[in-house]
Amino acid sequence: MTTTAVTHIASLVTNDPSLGNGTPLGLTQDAAVVIEGDRIVWTGESSKAPATDNVLDAAGRAVIPGFVDSHSHLVFAGDRTQEFNARMSGQPYRAGGIRTTVAATRAATDEELSANVARYLAEALRQGTTTFETKSGYGLTVEDEARALRIAGRHTDEVTYLGAHIVSPDYADDPAGYVDLVTGPMLEACAPHARWIDVFCEQGAFDGDQARAILTAGLAKGLQPRIHANQLSYGPGVQLAVELGAASADHCTHLTDADVDALGQGSTVATLLPGAEFSTRATWPDARRLLDAGATVALSTDCNPGSSFTSSMPFCVALAVRDMGMTPDEAIWSATAGGAAALRRTDIGRITPGARADLVLLDAPSHVHLAYRPGVPLVSAVWRSGQRVV
Ligand code: NIG
Ligand code: FE
Repeated sequence: MTTTAVTHIASLVTNDPSLGNGTPLGLTQDAAVVIEGDRIVWTGESSKAPATDNVLDAAGRAVIPGFVDSHSHLVFAGDRTQEFNARMSGQPYRAGGIRTTVAATRAATDEELSANVARYLAEALRQGTTTFETKSGYGLTVEDEARALRIAGRHTDEVTYLGAHIVSPDYADDPAGYVDLVTGPMLEACAPHARWIDVFCEQGAFDGDQARAILTAGLAKGLQPRIHANQLSYGPGVQLAVELGAASADHCTHLTDADVDALGQGSTVATLLPGAEFSTRATWPDARRLLDAGATVALSTDCNPGSSFTSSMPFCVALAVRDMGMTPDEAIWSATAGGAAALRRTDIGRITPGARADLVLLDAPSHVHLAYRPGVPLVSAVWRSGQRVV
């Protein structure tokens, strides 16, 4: 198998707290990383790197693990520029906007949907994302949801069934009937194509009882739960996530002290999606409050055409540092190891022997520049599974 060394890394984020400066980032200076096949096989002082087939001299630049974007909605068609314009003129964001994308997605061909996913993935990859999760949720019929998951599965292993995004317009007068569909025939058709099940637990979408019924049905079919929780208002989503042992409660924008305590004590990751607050002009989630309570925090894009049309993890990192009380170190951890935790993965989000060789070389001397130089394309090279892809 071919071996490659990246040498003279000014600052290497390993996310192994036993290495380097003893912080969660496991930051090491003047380092090297050796890749063999799709794995990392060695890290250490650059001068001690073993001989390899290929060498890339990082020449004093920084290397971080590939970003793990654990929350996106990429199987969609159409565009909501008008809705965004209206919001920027003072209209509030409402869950009902999802219906616009549902109509466009149903009308699109498989090829159009797949090309759209590929396009946003390529965009994300150029910005350092090497793993991403994506969801259905813009089909809302048995056939359209199953099709969205099949298409998502061509691009990633982290696929989430979100038939419970909103009540389908076809069931506007019969929400209970829609929950029966989501937990019955739609689940039957979708479960083979997904790893996760999600529900938008919110006013205008699904209440706590409906969300519990949906996630419990998914669990019985072998799907693991994650929840859109407490995004637009206070509500039962976070407590339900913790009660069910969900991998992640996503958004966490409106939290009571009890919600924060539950996330601080449980194993459910709090995934914060600053692109959504940016694009809906909403209150920022308070990452500091969650971190101080002991919660594991992930950062993710929520990339979707309605509430957060960004595929950029560096942008989310910059927002989290500027407006959500995170330090640059915490934000980088949350965008890499935090995302891996939200997907219950141990093979990604770190640069240590045995991990998948997902690396980002930055045109900067340290990871801090991702927040310090917002909006600047600092990603210089990306390896995914040991292959140089950017
Ligand atoms: O995570 N909150 C629910 N779903 C998406 C928004 C989807 C849309 O507006 O199309 C979100 O923000
Ligand atoms: Fe979302």
